Amino acid sequence: MVKINFSKKGDADQDVLIVPVLTGTEKLPGLPDNITNQLKSLLSAEDFQAKAGGTAAQRVAGQKIVFVGLGDREKLTPEQAKTTGAKVWSDLGNVSEKSVGLWGESVKPSILLKLTEGLLLRNYLDSRYKTGEELANAKKKLFSTLTVIADTDAALRREIDELTKITEAVHYVRDLVSAPPIDLKPEDLANEAAKLAQTYQNITCRVLNKKEIEAEGLGLLAAVNRGSAHEPRLIILEINANKKEKPIILVGKGLTFDSGGYNLKPSGGIEMMHIDMAGGATVLGTIKALAMLGSKKKVIGIVPATENLVSGEAYKPSDIIKSYSGKTVEIRNTDAEGRLILADALSYAEKNFSPALMIDLATLTGACRVALGERYAGVFSRHPEITKRLEQASKISGDKIWYLPLDELHSEQLKSKVADIANISEPSRLMGASSGAAFLSFFVKEETPWAHLDIAGPAHQSVEIEAWNPPSGATGYGVALLIDLITNW
Ligand code: BES
Ligand code: ZN
Ligand code: ZN
Repeated sequence: MVKINFSKKGDADQDVLIVPVLTGTEKLPGLPDNITNQLKSLLSAEDFQAKAGGTAAQRVAGQKIVFVGLGDREKLTPEQAKTTGAKVWSDLGNVSEKSVGLWGESVKPSILLKLTEGLLLRNYLDSRYKTGEELANAKKKLFSTLTVIADTDAALRREIDELTKITEAVHYVRDLVSAPPIDLKPEDLANEAAKLAQTYQNITCRVLNKKEIEAEGLGLLAAVNRGSAHEPRLIILEINANKKEKPIILVGKGLTFDSGGYNLKPSGGIEMMHIDMAGGATVLGTIKALAMLGSKKKVIGIVPATENLVSGEAYKPSDIIKSYSGKTVEIRNTDAEGRLILADALSYAEKNFSPALMIDLATLTGACRVALGERYAGVFSRHPEITKRLEQASKISGDKIWYLPLDELHSEQLKSKVADIANISEPSRLMGASSGAAFLSFFVKEETPWAHLDIAGPAHQSVEIEAWNPPSGATGYGVALLIDLITNW
């Protein structure tokens, strides 16, 4: 975790100093004269215009100064500041051995906070799968301490401290999501959860193995797993379990690899299916963050984990499977497997824990990704109050959501001639994201306060969408959203 120091002005002696500049600023109070002079000459030569996101790196008396533009004070939003903080990271150079300072005197606390957030989120490297020079060079770019130079009050210092913890959890989720399926099987995901319970005193973990999953009657989870050589797991991770209140339940899809099964995915789609456990990883990461933040909220994470593969044992289109709820499901498409394992997990959660709030996160449908792209998660709920709260949390966290429909039409189209419900709709291909949500809704009581988040888009970036994420790869989307939702619930 990055160590944050706080220091007052006059102490700007870091090897690398980031200086945010608003348009129209000529002099930054408290900044040493030689740096101010450098800024003036840059501005007058029009080499640097303080436009939002623009940077200029200069050497001043042995110190590297990275000026970064914030644009007009009136137009500047916290989100732009977060993006700017992330963008300036690339200009810092090799800072692994160096001290980095962020000059915060020129901006108000809310902007300073967001600049820091962007900077910290971007300061990430997955160092597991590269070797040699490329890895060595990438490592040099990571800073390990950051000095925030401003007259900070206790509230801002606390917020920045919380930010470093949430960032660590986001990075943890990125690591889990990027792990290839050879290294992250259902059992490994369960071991990660168990590790959290070992590390944090108020977390407890219980894991059901294949035999227990079958014995419990989690038939859909067992069916999806049948084509895989690796056992499924049902991970139950609790924080503050001994509290009397009703829990908040987070359910996350833990498909460690989704080949599509007999409805095999084609090239171009199958390669990224190691990320199909992003919902589950986000649940683990959120509980980790809650523990680090010392949250007193009672939260239970439930992650059904399995691979979806083909073999002589694999489940097939036209199979009829009995779910944990007792309802029977006609399998029309083995690639619509996420809704199956989630259905069992949701009804298991509802039956055994009576939630005060239940949120599930899943890379559920390509349709949602096509509709909303890689910035927005789709939100589905029969409870407007939850959607409203999610919208508020989204505004604070910057994890974007978009409300999509879930109504009787979508449920209607899931009728099966031979079983209680089919796992894809008729006609298929239309309204895919709503159809997935409608399937889940069949397994959750109307009165249960539940929302479904389809994160098939934002769990992963194929190109740069948000500057604070790695240019491509897993994002860690959702941790910040859930932390804001839970802490304000
Ligand atoms: N894991 C996929 C959804 C997905 C697609 C996630 C792209 C991330 C990126 C899911 O299991 C799936 O295959 N869904 C099918 C549903 C269809 C068969 C109704 C899909 O989206 O095509
Ligand atoms: Zn699938
Ligand atoms: Zn899937």
